Amino acid sequence: MTTASRFWHPFADMAQVAGHELVIERGEGARVWDAEGNEYFDGTASLWCVNAGHGRQEIADAVAAQMAELATYQTFSAFANGPALELSDRLAAYGEEVMDGPRVFLNLGGGDAIDTAAKLARRYFEAIGDPERTHIIGRTQGYHGTHGLGTAIGGIAANQAGMGPMDPETTHVTWDSLEALEAEFERVGPSRVAAVFAEPVIGAGGVHRVPPNYLQGLAELCRRHGALFVADCVIAAFGRLGTWWGVDRFDLRPDMITFAKGVTSGYLPLGGVLVSERVAEPFWEGAGVWFRHGQTYSGHPTCCAAALANLDVIERDGLLDRGREMEVELAEALAPLASHELVGEVRSGIGALAAVAFAPEALASRPGLPIELFGQARERGVLVRPLGDAVALSPPLVATREQIDTAAEALDASLSALDA
Ligand SMILES: Cc1ncc(COP(=O)(O)O)c(C=O)c1O
Repeated sequence: MTTASRFWHPFADMAQVAGHELVIERGEGARVWDAEGNEYFDGTASLWCVNAGHGRQEIADAVAAQMAELATYQTFSAFANGPALELSDRLAAYGEEVMDGPRVFLNLGGGDAIDTAAKLARRYFEAIGDPERTHIIGRTQGYHGTHGLGTAIGGIAANQAGMGPMDPETTHVTWDSLEALEAEFERVGPSRVAAVFAEPVIGAGGVHRVPPNYLQGLAELCRRHGALFVADCVIAAFGRLGTWWGVDRFDLRPDMITFAKGVTSGYLPLGGVLVSERVAEPFWEGAGVWFRHGQTYSGHPTCCAAALANLDVIERDGLLDRGREMEVELAEALAPLASHELVGEVRSGIGALAAVAFAPEALASRPGLPIELFGQARERGVLVRPLGDAVALSPPLVATREQIDTAAEALDASLSALDA
């Protein structure tokens, strides 16, 4: 058994990975360097998150200043700290565009946010005297993190396999079918559904753009049946879809929005839930009605300071607009790759994210193609992310058109090498 390092990598085949780590050492803008000095275009912004780009000194300075002042303190009961209060008010102000009277529940990442929203959905109905509403509907290909409820709500079957029983009151519907969702409401009993969870654009499930009006239809079904619509904007928010939340692109007003990643551009862990007035009301107005939930690091002052500095960068550097521009640039740059025989389709066109998907016939005989393409692209100085039938791209929002074109050329050459 190799003991090169005892670091157990997430989502990894450790038998292959141990001793073959790609050690990333330094980052600047849209580029990172490994421990051997090789430079890469960070085509994935780490895991869809470094929206502001690497190496932002002002975020590091804000973190250092906060650490020196008050590195950490808990926020249970009446405790608070300046950065948590300021961040919550700032996120609520951005949230007014997509939600009535948002409140902000903070934690440390997307998975935390999802399990918070799922528990809160059930707890809300209990609090208003409708305790039968406990069922939660997710979608095939959906990804909602790896906590208990998030694993169950997620619709990538491989992520549940072998993990024991999932929460029995969670089911999935085909990711793009309103008929399937309507049928599921009927099957479960509409008065038993607490919430439907949906990503505005499916990310980890392969970068899938929903059909026109699908999300509006989903929101309307939730409204009609009295269930909550939880928009999982962990990837979509903070510029990835070119707006603060991502749902604004579809004219949606969800009951809750989960966020993480781009809120700090990954500089420190932070996530949370934007909760509409309707859902918050029983807890904020009814004395003695608690949400008995939260973590040691909820509202962590240093993480909140990182978020505030990051939001300053996003505003000052116009990164929401840049997300919109990059949506077009990525689509244009990657479209020609569809002419490769191995490629089935290039998925792009909404937000600064895209995927190059292999043709099913090619994958049938060569299932490792996404990993092979990752390897070829890496040799050419570009990091992409193998995901299911595809490799995904979601560069930092500071990437230039030139960098995107160069990355597309590297992918083109990589596909030719795989073709040969
Ligand atoms: C849509 C979505 N929700 C939730 C999560 C989970 O976030 P985290 O990895 O921070 O727990 C992710 C992570 O990629 C995600 O893409």
